[in-house]
Amino acid sequence: MAVARDAFARLGNILPDVEIAVLAPVIDEIERLKRERNAVVLAHNYMTPDIFHGVADLTGDSLALARLAAKTDADVIVMAGVHFMAETAKILNPEKTVLIPDLRAGCSLAEGITAADVRKLRERYPGVPVVTYVNTSAEVKAESDICCTSSNAVEVVRSLGVPRVIFIPDQYLGKWVASQTDVEVILWQGSCEVHERFTGEELREYRKQHDGIRIIAHPECPPDVLDEADYVGSTSGMITYLKREKPRKVVLITECSMSDNVAVEARETEFVRPCNLCPHMKRITLENLRDALRDMKHVVDVDPEIAARARSSVERMLAVNA
Ligand code: 13P
Ligand code: SF4
Repeated sequence: MAVARDAFARLGNILPDVEIAVLAPVIDEIERLKRERNAVVLAHNYMTPDIFHGVADLTGDSLALARLAAKTDADVIVMAGVHFMAETAKILNPEKTVLIPDLRAGCSLAEGITAADVRKLRERYPGVPVVTYVNTSAEVKAESDICCTSSNAVEVVRSLGVPRVIFIPDQYLGKWVASQTDVEVILWQGSCEVHERFTGEELREYRKQHDGIRIIAHPECPPDVLDEADYVGSTSGMITYLKREKPRKVVLITECSMSDNVAVEARETEFVRPCNLCPHMKRITLENLRDALRDMKHVVDVDPEIAARARSSVERMLAVNA
């Protein structure tokens, strides 16, 4: 079977043959369904390798996935990621069908703020623009002036040319932006349940135990973690850094699957692997992705009026450094 052979080739360096043999029929089915439905699978960098290397058509961080979603010619987009990513794809493609394999794939940041909270912030700080991390619901995006992701937050805030912004909902990403700009940042107390668990102490231990190790951290981590890092960036920023710097030894201070996915290509680098899993990302599996395509579920819809307002915040972001 041609597709199964491809799966062996792609996953051969990552998974044992017996495991690939079990996965191959599911991968075959997904490939067949993709052709039948004219569907594309967009996968976030935190997906497990069987999805990331096995069936994804396009991969990336939140910004890349939003840009790719805006460009695709497919009729159906399957988001192998969390709910806000599927909503962003739908906001940018109102005429397409967007599916998510498990509707429960949420995000602690998105769940920590509502549209009513944003309206209250606006009342409290009249005239101050609201910059909203994409890890939020469509309703929250609709109340915002502009969106950002972890890879463009600093540029987005600078692009506004204002002395003060309201930055929601990630307090740590907001603090990181404040440390990189002259802009005063009014924060919301949201955080990522995965990245807030890392500590500066833990990173200092890695340095003691691993001579010459490079520490790369996601900006959703607390400030004492980012202070210890050699590089701070989005998940795709981390991949670019590894390709450019080719460090001998590295630790990625982010979700577990990142190291599994990038280690396949970064052969010269040894990965120390602390593991903080995102339970939401891990709800997406090869099996429920297959079921999503087979049964055309779960369809992600956004109220058209909310989508139109959210789209202007997302498109304004995409226009920065387009
Ligand atoms: P990236 O945009 O860096 O991929 O981050 C998304 C995310 O959810 C990180 O936890
Ligand atoms: Fe949300 Fe954190 Fe999971 Fe990313 S890793 S989806 S920010 S909970």
